Amino acid sequence: MTDTAITVEGLRKRYGDTQAVDGVSFEVKHGEFYGILGPNGAGKTTTLEIIEGLREPDEGTARLLGEASWPRNPALLHRIGVQLQASAFFERLSAREQIHTFASLYGVPGDRADAMLETVGLNDKSGTRENKLSGGQAQRLSIACALVHDPELVFLDEPTTGLDPQARRNLWDLLRTINSEGRTVVLTTHYMDEAEILCDRVAVMDNGRILRVGTPAQLIEELGVRSLEDVFLQLTGREYRE
Ligand SMILES: Nc1ncnc2c1ncn2[C@@H]1O[C@H](COP(=O)(O)OP(=O)(O)OP(=O)(O)O)[C@@H](O)[C@H]1O
Ligand SMILES: [Mg+2]
Repeated sequence: MTDTAITVEGLRKRYGDTQAVDGVSFEVKHGEFYGILGPNGAGKTTTLEIIEGLREPDEGTARLLGEASWPRNPALLHRIGVQLQASAFFERLSAREQIHTFASLYGVPGDRADAMLETVGLNDKSGTRENKLSGGQAQRLSIACALVHDPELVFLDEPTTGLDPQARRNLWDLLRTINSEGRTVVLTTHYMDEAEILCDRVAVMDNGRILRVGTPAQLIEELGVRSLEDVFLQLTGREYRE
C-alpha cells in the first residue's frame, strides 16, 4: 500500500460556457485531513463530485485507495463516505428510517445506525420526517448517513454550514476522532477557523484552479500574513465568507 489515499491528475469539467474545473491536480496521504477552500463557484463541489465518482470529468483522472473513481467503481462504495452539499434523503422517511436504510444498504447492523444518530445528537428527532427537520438537523443526519458504514475515506462538502456553534464544535470533535483513528478526511469549508483547527493541509481554489497548497502555518508564513483568513483574501481577492 502506498501512502497516498487520493491522487487527482489534470481534472477538467466544463458546463456550457463555464469552465468549472480547469486543470486540478493534488494528492492526499493516508490519514491526512485535507481542506479545500475557495469562494462560491470556485469549483470545489464539482471537483469533489468527480473524485467521488458521481460525475464524469471531461479530462483527467482521480484514483481513490488505488482504484479509479470513474467509471463508477462499486468496489469503492463500501470504503468511502460521501456527504453532499445538497442533502439527498429518501422521501417521507423519518430520521431513524433514513439512517437504517443507509445502514442496511451497506450491510451495517441497526444498532450501529442508532449509535450514529445519537453521536450527531438526533436521538430526540429519530421519528421526525426528513422534510420536517431543521436545516442543521438535516445536515447532521446526512453526515451520520455518510459515516454509518465506517468508511476509510470521508468526503464532506461544507459539513458545518448552517450548524449552530455547539453543533459545529461537536462535529469538529467527531471528525477529529475519526481522523485520529486513521481515516482520511477531505472537506470543503468557508470557515477559516475550522480549516485552521482541523486541516493538516489546505488547497485554496478559485476559478476552477488550485492556487496554492500547504499547511495553514506554511501558507501564512509564505505569504507573510497573520491568518488563514488573510491568505484567502490575498490569494482570491475576496473576503472569506459569502
Ligand atoms: N450542474 C451544473 N450545471 C451548470 N453549471 C454548473 C453545474 N454545477 C456547477 N456549475 C457551475 O460551475 C462552477 C463551479 O461550481 P461549484 O458548485 O463546483 O462551486 P463551489 O466551489 O462548490 O461553490 P460553493 O462554495 O458555492 O459551493 C460555478 O460557476 C457553477 O455555476
Ligand atoms: Mg460547493
